Amino acid sequence: MTRIQPLPHIALTKPYVPGGKLKGSTGHVIMLASNENPFGPSPKAVEAMKAAAEEVHIYPDPEYRALRETIAEATGIAEASRIVVSSGSDEIIHLLTQCYAGPGDEILFTEHAFSMYRVSALSHGAETVTVPETDLTAGANAILGAVTDKTKILFLANPNNPTGTMMKVEDLERLQDSLPPHVLFVVDGAYAEYVSPDYEAQIRDLVDRRANTVMMRTFSKIHGLAAMRLGWAYMPDEIMQTFQRIRGPFNVNGLAVAAGMASIQDEEFLTKSREHNAEWRTKMMDALNAMGLPTPPSHANFVLPDFGSSERADAANEFLKTRNILVRAVGGYGLPTRLRISVGSAEDNETVLAALREFTASH
Ligand SMILES: Cc1ncc(COP(=O)(O)O)c(C=O)c1O
Repeated sequence: MTRIQPLPHIALTKPYVPGGKLKGSTGHVIMLASNENPFGPSPKAVEAMKAAAEEVHIYPDPEYRALRETIAEATGIAEASRIVVSSGSDEIIHLLTQCYAGPGDEILFTEHAFSMYRVSALSHGAETVTVPETDLTAGANAILGAVTDKTKILFLANPNNPTGTMMKVEDLERLQDSLPPHVLFVVDGAYAEYVSPDYEAQIRDLVDRRANTVMMRTFSKIHGLAAMRLGWAYMPDEIMQTFQRIRGPFNVNGLAVAAGMASIQDEEFLTKSREHNAEWRTKMMDALNAMGLPTPPSHANFVLPDFGSSERADAANEFLKTRNILVRAVGGYGLPTRLRISVGSAEDNETVLAALREFTASH
């Protein structure tokens, strides 16, 4: 009897492992595993979603004109026609892969890159090429050395998740200039807002420098809208035309549209979130380094202390779970001696630091 069989490359694809939940715990769980905004969503986004709830019997505008124009205005993009919106930026990763790479093609990313790039490449039958990093940071020369005639896409999150490190803009420009024209360069700016407004403008401008570059962004992090599943990208016209062939006409839901439009205009909320993160990111890095847990400089909304061995990192993770604190094990990212800890509320940050002080005193 013949069974229903998936395509061979789908059968080999391992699914993405999300941040997870604490099983069987009662009481308040401190969630520092998924880089979410500790302030929640903007109150203006919540109001906008409530109002939009009355209208959900109507299909959204398949062109998403109002949302794209609002994003363009808020981010200084002249042509809203070159912005696409998506159900989370994960959807953009998948759609770009689907457009440009398949069996026999190579997709490049670096050693500790965001794991969805691998999932997406494998699920489309493309080969993955992993480029070594130096000091947990991607480098232009190493990436260029790995490019071949078969390379179709380079995915680079800057800052990267889970390392929090980033390449300088000059190096991104050099990389962009040196890539052969058949390689699509995808700059993933999921954490760009946590660097600076200047940096946001600089990666936007990369798209206008060369016809090979797409910038991806998300509403899941600083906007606190992870559950709404809203992302966007800014891309050259030609890539846009290809992308639009396969984008579902209603890929973003109406509540996400309303929330995204309100949030991206709420400068007060975004500034408060950025400033809180900058303050606590430094405090957490300093405190962890002082505990003897070396922590690389983070440009994002999480930190990545090193516990020296995978056994000690696992023990720290278990210890934190007994305190109802959930952080992220990153062995799957080739970082088994470390844990990724999101910047949370002041109170939650104090609690996780106190728990780790206790742990390091006894382990
Ligand atoms: C670097 C990076 N890119 C993309 C995403 C996907 O975000 P979303 O699909 O929620 O927009 C994440 C989520 O953690 C991320 O860390």
